[in-house]
Amino acid sequence: MRTQVAIVGAGPAGLMLSHLLALAGVDSVVLDMRERATIESTIRAGVLEHGTVDLMVQTGVGERVLREGHQHDGIELRFAGESHRIDLAGLTGRSVRLYPQHEVLKDLIAARLAAGGDLRFGVADVALHDLTGDAPRVTFTDATGRPVELLSDVVVGCDGSGGVSKWAIPQSERRDHFRAYPFGWFGILVEAPRSSEELIYAHSPRGFALISTRTEQVQRMYFQCDPQEKADDWSDEQIWAELHARVGGNGFSLREGRIFEKSVIPMRSYVCEPLQHGRLFLAGDAAHTVPPTGAKGLNLAIADIRVLAQALEAFFATGDPGLLDRYSETALRRVWRAQHFSWWMTSMLHISADATSFDVRRQIGELDLVTSSTAASTYLAQAYVGWPQDATG
Ligand code: DHB
Repeated sequence: MRTQVAIVGAGPAGLMLSHLLALAGVDSVVLDMRERATIESTIRAGVLEHGTVDLMVQTGVGERVLREGHQHDGIELRFAGESHRIDLAGLTGRSVRLYPQHEVLKDLIAARLAAGGDLRFGVADVALHDLTGDAPRVTFTDATGRPVELLSDVVVGCDGSGGVSKWAIPQSERRDHFRAYPFGWFGILVEAPRSSEELIYAHSPRGFALISTRTEQVQRMYFQCDPQEKADDWSDEQIWAELHARVGGNGFSLREGRIFEKSVIPMRSYVCEPLQHGRLFLAGDAAHTVPPTGAKGLNLAIADIRVLAQALEAFFATGDPGLLDRYSETALRRVWRAQHFSWWMTSMLHISADATSFDVRRQIGELDLVTSSTAASTYLAQAYVGWPQDATG
């Protein structure tokens, strides 16, 4: 089997890349170890940057996000028992849209299949070969158990934080920047009406909490917890008590409902540098992970792909690898800015186990500044709606 671009991973990065390449007349095959149904139902974040929505709309996969996604023009930062609005639209002229990641994936899979795209779900034993020559290969076992060899010109690793692709870059050429945070997020999905029109990011002496939404009837909420916590050890009563203690008060009260999903999400930062090894390129979580505060993960993956798709298009049109060779440096500029933003939001809003009263008061001082200084709130708003996404990163 032969294709121009072998894409490992059918998440946001891999599927968007395949979609953009197809529009540019470049062939690709996308492989994923997971089944389509798993990919289309795995719950992740739900905030789409302005540029992510624009790209979906401009490339013909934005009909549902515009119809079903909700535009949010602001967020609330809640601390010392009071809410303070960050006016995203007023400060930046831009908004975000709430639309869950798995819905983006459904739209991309449907578009690829409708266009005759080659997506292979349920594969196993994926291995990358000959990456430093001009004919790299990917071998795998397909869903029927048959061994397959896929010949290509370029391989792109989009197989997420647990994927194999990045390990194909020899350790001597790879720098792994890693940071683990001493907390996790306890996430729930709830059948309840919205408690607030806008997302609430809450700082409290008991730790962080986030009130987000999915639909009129389904809400998404998180609270900071020990990363070793087992979701099943928490009763619904305990979960509600914790959430109320962190966000309630001063006239605000959460609306409760049936909790139908609960899980604990680890928090880490990771960057692999560089993002290229010969004809292998990494994008999305395969290359970098951010902690969830600020919802940059999916958007960063899409921003990588914008840069990479243009570079691949130029490469296949002219044979000139110039843009491809600059991909790593270009994409990493945005990656490190987003790493800073995600780390900053996390450190401003979470309480460490060893936090002193000084640390907590200092955070409140920072939150007070961020919600009252136009310069500081504009930094937050620009980062939140997303810095311009273009081929230069
Ligand atoms: C959601 C997740 C985030 O990490 C965030 O910052 C905002 C919203 C969500 O899942 O809705």
